[in-house]
Amino acid sequence: MIFNVLTLFPELIENSMNTSITGRAIKNDIIKLNTVNIRDFAENKHGQVDDYPYGGGAGMVMQAPPVYRAYKSIEDRIQKENKKKPRVIYLTPQGKVFNQKMAEEFSKEEELVFLCGHYEGIDERVLELIVTDNVSIGDYVLTGGELPALVMMDSISRLVDGVLNNKDSSVYESFYDNKLEYPQYTRPEEFMGMHVPKVLLSGDHKKVDEWRKEESLKRTLERRPDLLDES
Ligand code: ADE
Repeated sequence: MIFNVLTLFPELIENSMNTSITGRAIKNDIIKLNTVNIRDFAENKHGQVDDYPYGGGAGMVMQAPPVYRAYKSIEDRIQKENKKKPRVIYLTPQGKVFNQKMAEEFSKEEELVFLCGHYEGIDERVLELIVTDNVSIGDYVLTGGELPALVMMDSISRLVDGVLNNKDSSVYESFYDNKLEYPQYTRPEEFMGMHVPKVLLSGDHKKVDEWRKEESLKRTLERRPDLLDES
């Protein structure tokens, strides 16, 4: 999986992605991160990439030409490698709200492009030209698309073969089968007078499985009944 990120803050993306599990996956060449600084494709020597909105109003708008040229630098490389055109994800509160199913779908791609906007947005014409997917990470407004891109890359990465090892396995986890995960316990067996549920100490795998299924369903009913309507 190659993650390409068009951004004005490549160091933010790199610092985060090079940490923890995604960092290990990058080191081991299981995923690749390619950040492209949109400012490197500015029209003028000051590196300015934004301008006042036509029609007036507050804020600045990212200009179409530098965004397009930054994108083209990725597309040209992909074309040379005889690969198919990548999906281009624009992070925007106006997009479809991201979920586990979308993460699974995106994890099957060979390569993805994330476009991170800032200021009041990006000139609509370049969005029309290059964006294939508008994605939001929730109904709230952030200062830019970098954090949403990181959220998406984190959740997509862990679904790519080889990123998680046995120790951090992803088989039974929240949203598997539209349910939340059961509660987990580790040593010590007693903590501040609270005991680990007896069944987990019984060694009876069938009973443990049944208990976990029950807890998973109970927890979903209590905390996210809306998930059960979807299945
Ligand atoms: N950019 C600003 N807010 C956002 C959000 N909630 N999701 C995706 N991109 C955004």
